[in-house]
Amino acid sequence: DDLDLLITNGIVVTASDEAKLDIGIKNGKIAILAPQGLLNTAKKVINAKGGYITPGGVDTHVHLEEPALFGGKGRSSDNFETGTRSAICGGTTTIVAFAPQAKTEGSLLEVLKETHERARGNCYADYSFHMLCGNPSEKALSEFPELRRQGISSLKIYLTYEALQLRDDQVLDVLYSSRKEGFTTMIHAENGDVLNWMTKKLEALNLVAPKYHATSRPQLVETEATYRAIMLAELMDAPILVVHVSSPSAAAHLRNAQTRGLPVYAETCPQYLFLTREDLDKPGFEGAKCVCSPPPRENSGDHDAIWLGLSNGTFTVLSSDHCPFDYENTEIGKKSTLSVEHPNGKFAHIPNGLPGVETRLATVLSAGRLSMQKFVEVTSTNAAKLYGLYPQKGSILPGVSDADLVIWYPSQGKDGALTPFTLTNSMLHHRCDYTPYEGQVLTQWPRYTILRGEVVYDHEGEGLQALAIQAPKRSDFFIVQKSAVSIAKPLSMVSINGLPPVGMGGDQFVDVDGI
Ligand code: URP
Ligand code: ZN
Ligand code: ZN
Ligand code: ZN
Repeated sequence: DDLDLLITNGIVVTASDEAKLDIGIKNGKIAILAPQGLLNTAKKVINAKGGYITPGGVDTHVHLEEPALFGGKGRSSDNFETGTRSAICGGTTTIVAFAPQAKTEGSLLEVLKETHERARGNCYADYSFHMLCGNPSEKALSEFPELRRQGISSLKIYLTYEALQLRDDQVLDVLYSSRKEGFTTMIHAENGDVLNWMTKKLEALNLVAPKYHATSRPQLVETEATYRAIMLAELMDAPILVVHVSSPSAAAHLRNAQTRGLPVYAETCPQYLFLTREDLDKPGFEGAKCVCSPPPRENSGDHDAIWLGLSNGTFTVLSSDHCPFDYENTEIGKKSTLSVEHPNGKFAHIPNGLPGVETRLATVLSAGRLSMQKFVEVTSTNAAKLYGLYPQKGSILPGVSDADLVIWYPSQGKDGALTPFTLTNSMLHHRCDYTPYEGQVLTQWPRYTILRGEVVYDHEGEGLQALAIQAPKRSDFFIVQKSAVSIAKPLSMVSINGLPPVGMGGDQFVDVDGI
C-alpha cells in the first residue's frame, strides 16, 4: 500500500531522541519511521534535507472568545477560527482552550456545551478544553464525573480576579472532587486580596500608568499564592499545575515541592522569558498592551531563572497563555481608559492578557537557549502527557500518533535555510492589532505545519505572508482527554501519564473520607 506522504532526508527530533530518519504517513497517522532511503513510494514526498522535523506544537493554555473575566472590559479577540489559524501558522497543531464558567453561572456542563458549539466546525487545529471553574457550586462539583465521561480531565481555578477568585475552602472543594475523578487542577496563583489592596493604594496616589500594574503585583503576590496552592494540594494529596509562573521565588517553591516528591507541576510562558516591567512603560498605549498577570518581571536575571527552570525540569510545560485584546478595532481598554490626564491608560481598567499562540514556538526556538529535545518536551510532549492527549499528540510513535509535524529550516542550515527576519504584527494571523514581540529578530519559523498528514501551512519563499492554509475547517477536531491521573491512591505515588516527579506523597495528607 502506498504511503500518503513521505518526508525524507530530515533530522527527526522528539523529546527523547534525535536521528536521521524518514517518516511515512498513512491515513493521518505516523505509519513508519525508517532508515533514510529505504522508503521510496508515496503519493507525495517532501524532501526535508537540511531541516528538522518535530512533533506539532501542543499549546495547552489558550483563551478564545472569553468574556470579560480578567479585569477591564471586552472579550478576548480571537475566536476559534482565527485563534486556531494563528496556531497552525506558528507550528501548533493542537490547542487546549478554556470553557469559561463565571461566578454567576452554576453549571459546568452547560458552559462546556456552549463552548463546544463555538468551536465545532470552526477550527483549523485540533482542540480540547479545560474547564475554567469560577463557581464550584454543589451543582458544578457534582458534574465532575460527567465531565470526565465527556472527555474533560482538567480544570483551571483562580486565586485572583474579581469574577473568578476562589477562597481557600473553595479551592479545597475543587481539589477534593478533582482527586476523586482524576482531574489535573491548574491554578492561577496570585493573591487577589493583596493585589487589590495595592491597586487601591496606588489609585489613591494617582499612580495609574501601566507600569504600576507591576508595582501592584510584586513577586511576593505570586510567591505567597504559589506556596499556598502547593500547601492546599499537599493537604488534599491532589496533583496541581501552577500556570504562567513568572517569579524566580515562586519557581523555587515549586522546585522544592517537586524535590519532596509532590505531584506539583508548573508552566511558564514566553512573556516571562522576553518581556520586562520596562515594556509596560512604553509610550502611548503601547505599555498597556503588555499588561498581563502575573506581570513581566524586572530584568534579565529573572528571565535567566525561568530559562533555568525550563532546563532543569521545574517547568513541565511552556504554553502561550494566548489571551489577545484588540485595542485598535474595539472599544475595550483603550478608549475607556485613555484621557488627557492618563495618556497611557489606567492599569486597573486594562484587560489582562497577551497574544502569543503563533509566536510561542519560533521565539523560544530562536532564542537558542534550549536543546531541540528539551524544546519538544516542554512545548509538545509534556503538554500532551499532562492532559491525557499523549501519545495521540506530542509524539511520533508509528501506528499510534497522529501525523502532526513541523519542519524547521534554521537559518544556520544550508539547504532551504530561513533568512533571519524581523517579526512584525502584519506577518501574524491572529485577530489582534499588535504583538508584544514586534521587532524581535527570529532565526526560526515553521517551513511546513502538517496536521494529521496534511500540509496545512506552507511558508514558502520570501516573508511570512506567503502562507497557504490548505486545510478546510473540519467538523470535529475535538480530542478526548484520556485519564490524566490515575485514581489509584495515594495519587502522589503514581505519575501523570508517566511524567516525573512523583513519590512519597504529602506528609500532611488528610484522608478525608478514605478515597
Ligand atoms: O494576563 C493574563 N494571564 N490573562 C489571561 C488570563 C489568565 O489569567 O490566564
Ligand atoms: Zn491565569
Ligand atoms: Zn491564561
Ligand atoms: Zn480605577
